[in-house]
Amino acid sequence: MKKVLVVLLLLATAFTYAQDLPADFLSSEFHKERRDLAREKMPVNSVAIFFANPVRNRANDVDYIYHQDPNFYYLTGYTEPHAVLMIFKDEQDGPDGSYNEIIFIQPRNAMAELWTGRRLGVGGVKEKLAFNQVFNNTEFEGYNIDFSKFDKVLFYDFFNDVRDTRTEGDLFDLIASFKRKAGYPTEGVIDIESKANNLDMETLDQIMKDLRGIKTADELDLLRKAVDISCIAQTEVMKAIKPGMSEREVQGIHEFIFRKYQSEYQGYPSIVGEGHNGCILHYIENYKPQISSDKMILMDLGAEYHGYTADVTRTIPIDGKFSKEEKAIYDLVYKAQEAAIQACKPGVNIGRDLNNAIAKRIINEGLVELGIIDSVTQRHLYYPHGLGHHIGLDVHDKGNYEYLEPNMAITIEPGIYIPEGAQCDKKWWGIAVRIEDDVLITEDGFELLSDLAPRTSDEIEEMMKQPSALDAFVLPDLDKK
Ligand code: GLY
Ligand code: MN
Ligand code: MN
Repeated sequence: MKKVLVVLLLLATAFTYAQDLPADFLSSEFHKERRDLAREKMPVNSVAIFFANPVRNRANDVDYIYHQDPNFYYLTGYTEPHAVLMIFKDEQDGPDGSYNEIIFIQPRNAMAELWTGRRLGVGGVKEKLAFNQVFNNTEFEGYNIDFSKFDKVLFYDFFNDVRDTRTEGDLFDLIASFKRKAGYPTEGVIDIESKANNLDMETLDQIMKDLRGIKTADELDLLRKAVDISCIAQTEVMKAIKPGMSEREVQGIHEFIFRKYQSEYQGYPSIVGEGHNGCILHYIENYKPQISSDKMILMDLGAEYHGYTADVTRTIPIDGKFSKEEKAIYDLVYKAQEAAIQACKPGVNIGRDLNNAIAKRIINEGLVELGIIDSVTQRHLYYPHGLGHHIGLDVHDKGNYEYLEPNMAITIEPGIYIPEGAQCDKKWWGIAVRIEDDVLITEDGFELLSDLAPRTSDEIEEMMKQPSALDAFVLPDLDKK
């Protein structure tokens, strides 16, 4: 009887699961094609091993929301933990015929699913993710494989920070089994320069950079959606923001709009910094209780949609009007950004051609003109970061940086940050501006993906005059209860 109930529970969850899922995820054909392309790039007589991301504990019996490792997701579409994927360069002989890939996943378990959610299980992975060789993770320990027969065993090195959940077949056990089977040293870390064994922790990353750095049409559909959502959120905040709101409330408006459009997560912790808080490049406390009418606010937020994350920054005057100094700095950052965007095309290098020769040069010349630095060669920290990076499944996505190529998706994000006490006239202190846009490299140039969010100082001021539906959204004042 108990068995019947468990089977019924599993069947019921499988049925409702299919009905509840959005229909626009990447297809199993996409993931399969990515595995085939990875295999093509693998060296002769090699095997590649990928592990799912670990579950991280937040406190006591509450874990952080699980997020799959982007490489693992890219190659499988599997979003659950405690799994290992192996891709073989050549066909392997098995009892039921040959195979060139195999995945071990967490088993179905009615009680666990009652508490923490549905699992695909072996049947679901075969059917939905189009794998042939699928086993429960508890079977990995007994899986008979001789790693010494391969010229190369490709994997990412471990940081030894995976927690033992004391469940048979969990990630802790999978890694331990792999290390034992592959002859990974039990003491210390492996000498990656040593060619004395077949363990290779370098090649795989280059393969994944080559693949993930160039987006397919299906990936771009999702990325465009993430970017559009993020831009609409920036635009709505321009209408809704008021002096006296908290940084957290501004963050909340962005993230509410992300959710309205079914974005599952933030692609990275949201950065919302008023005034000099914007000088902290990755300021994520967002704690200031009341933002001030005489300051700007720097807002760097990206919606993640079905795995793909935008990365869009807007810096706006809280009262809707840039002061003379704010506008001078803002327009200078814009000028540098716009020139760099216009120069985006295949063959150029982000660091040398777009940043050093264009964005940094324009910023330095402008800072001299404004009297903030003395000469264009003066060393300073007003623009302390790079110009851009790949975006995709990671906000700082895998990809190559030597030359831009068609279908690379990158950010262009210059900034100027003048902290309190800087060696310049104090009228500039506390001004922090970053403008960050998402750009797709095309065959002969670029497409600006983030064009839904106003970007020039005039466009921003115009948008900020618009009313917001949130103007009428008034909640009880808890202090007056
Ligand atoms: N949001 C992080 C970055 O701009 O790189
Ligand atoms: Mn960025
Ligand atoms: Mn950013």
